[in-house]
Amino acid sequence: MAFTQRNLLGLEGLPAAEILHVLDTTKSFVEISERDIKKVPTLRGKTVINLFYEASTRTRTSFEIAAKRLSADTINISASTSSAQKGETLADTARNLEAMRPDAIIIRHPSSGAPHLLARAVSSPVINAGDGQHEHPTQALLDLFTIREKKGKNGSIAGLEVAIVGDILHSRVARSNLYGLIALGAKVRLVGPPTLLPQEFRSFGVELHHDLRKGIAGADVIMMLRIQRERQGLNFFPSLEEYSRLFGLDRAAMAAAKPDVVILHPGPMNRGIEISSEVADGPYSLILDQVTNGVAVRMALLYLLATRGRSELEREVEARAAS
Ligand code: NCD
Repeated sequence: MAFTQRNLLGLEGLPAAEILHVLDTTKSFVEISERDIKKVPTLRGKTVINLFYEASTRTRTSFEIAAKRLSADTINISASTSSAQKGETLADTARNLEAMRPDAIIIRHPSSGAPHLLARAVSSPVINAGDGQHEHPTQALLDLFTIREKKGKNGSIAGLEVAIVGDILHSRVARSNLYGLIALGAKVRLVGPPTLLPQEFRSFGVELHHDLRKGIAGADVIMMLRIQRERQGLNFFPSLEEYSRLFGLDRAAMAAAKPDVVILHPGPMNRGIEISSEVADGPYSLILDQVTNGVAVRMALLYLLATRGRSELEREVEARAAS
């Protein structure tokens, strides 16, 4: 099975076989970052534009490093330095970027659906690096890759119990992970206060828990999420102290978890709120593995999307040479 998508806008509806193809391709890119000289010529002569309308450290850096390790030329545009400040619409920005013939555009935007609008306006592949509260597909793919590496059996995560804990309502990371985990056959429980975990989420066919300890008991993987204060217009809980007491993952709460559980967090972490330092830096934590794997996942995606003009055979030969 190949990756047939022109863009990566979300994981909703993406067939399991295509997700697995991305994860398998990622494997061949992991090793490049372990080398002394971390560069392969795969995207030489290609141009990758990073268009970021929202704050980001990890994701933007990760995409930039991924593109550079593939020898692409990268251009970073952030909202504060773009013509968005002068009132230009996203569609006009897109048409102007398109006129410069990029080979891939990566976009992060505070509005859900912005990457879809961009993809309709340009012919180059578009990768969604997070759109509002909607999706963050590359984060979910790196999470899936990390879970499969550490917990998968024969390359499969089917049947694994994954607890996603925190501000589910406002989290694009939770949404993309839900689609991806369910497509690959994992069993998902969502854990959080009722205000941040509305009953509608039952429609995904997952368990909902409003008690942290019950929610994480028996889980193979716990994914902690940040409280998205910047997206919350209202008060969704009385105080951060109370949230932390009820839903923060600290050593005491970990007593309810399986002894071989692994902990994920997409970052940025709010230490002492959703996760204690002891847990974040402890032996179960895969938080920095996620960051390392993020580069490889994004290399794989750039490779799959920006070389689509080439034949499968050419791409296979290149992938083998790169690995
Ligand atoms: C997430 C994001 O921006 O959606 N962070 C990330 O990309 N690693 C999660 C968050 O902001 O809490």
